[in-house]
Amino acid sequence: MLGPVILAASRSDQMRRFVSVAPGTKQVVDRFIAGETVEHVVPIVLDATDKGLEVTLDVVGEDITTREQACAARDAYLDLIAHLKDLGLGTKAEMSVKLSMFGQALEDGHELALANVRPVVEAAAAIGTTVTLDAEDHTTLDSMFAIHEELRKDFPQTGCVIQAYLFRTEADARRLAASGSRVRIVKGAYKEPASVAHQDKGEIDKAYVRIMKILMEGDGYPMIGSHDPRLIAIAQELARRAGRKLDEYEFQMLYGIRSDEHVRLAAEGHRMRVYTAYGTDWYGYFMRRLAEKPANLLFFGRSIITK
Ligand code: FDA
Repeated sequence: MLGPVILAASRSDQMRRFVSVAPGTKQVVDRFIAGETVEHVVPIVLDATDKGLEVTLDVVGEDITTREQACAARDAYLDLIAHLKDLGLGTKAEMSVKLSMFGQALEDGHELALANVRPVVEAAAAIGTTVTLDAEDHTTLDSMFAIHEELRKDFPQTGCVIQAYLFRTEADARRLAASGSRVRIVKGAYKEPASVAHQDKGEIDKAYVRIMKILMEGDGYPMIGSHDPRLIAIAQELARRAGRKLDEYEFQMLYGIRSDEHVRLAAEGHRMRVYTAYGTDWYGYFMRRLAEKPANLLFFGRSIITK
């Protein structure tokens, strides 16, 4: 029951101000956010790759309100790519982007987001890596998929995310699987109405399995974004039945969540990519992590009280 309340708070400026300055916040945020700057995150990337893991890097930020902020988001990713170039990790370090951070919700936002994300995708390709477009709330997805399709004309390796809780997603999965795309499947982290999304956890899990099956049997590259041990076991079985080798799909998990499992799956020979978020505008990302596991909220509450 707490999850939807926290998700509603994730869009409140008043809560943002309160949470951002509350004593004890930093300690909890640090569990999910790998640092504030690219200089903080580079050693974390190297540590992960030394352990046999791969990463997808997210400069946190979303729902920006000016064109200048959208350009700043583009520049932050270009700066990240300049640092990655020196590391020579290729696709072991890719990037995830939220189009709302690139201006998607502003006037002419679709064109603006495409214009801002294209140089990032180009620069990523120039250093031998790629970009995945994150999925945000359902109102943004037609634009996200159109941008994805447009980018794939020149950069076919560009990935996108689909969310199992949405009714539309099985159809999206079929289309993307047939087109040979890289696709990350996740359960979905936003507050969505019952008119567009399953509300029941069991229904979401069943949809997740149906969608994984479509992706595993299709022509694309499935990226299984989940910490759920049952879904991970089912993914392995579906991949085996579809005749996929270990390098023909991958698992993805979030930085700070089930870290032992990251290493265990990599040690078994799986491609395991850690979604590593960094930056200063962490509020929305952090609140979604609290909403996913209300026990995190308890920990957060305690750390505020004991400070
Ligand atoms: P579930 O929530 O059932 O969790 C399974 C277990 O994992 C829990 O029992 C717990 O042990 C652990 N766990 C999960 N979340 C935790 C948390 N926050 N803190 C502590 N433990 C936790 N969503 C979206 O809408 N758009 C997107 O683009 C993305 N991108 C994305 C990338 C990657 C790599 C991942 C792993 C996830 C996303 N998500 C996302 C988030 C996703 O939609 C979903 O909210 C979370 O992954 C939680 O769902 P699980 O599948 O992990 O299952």
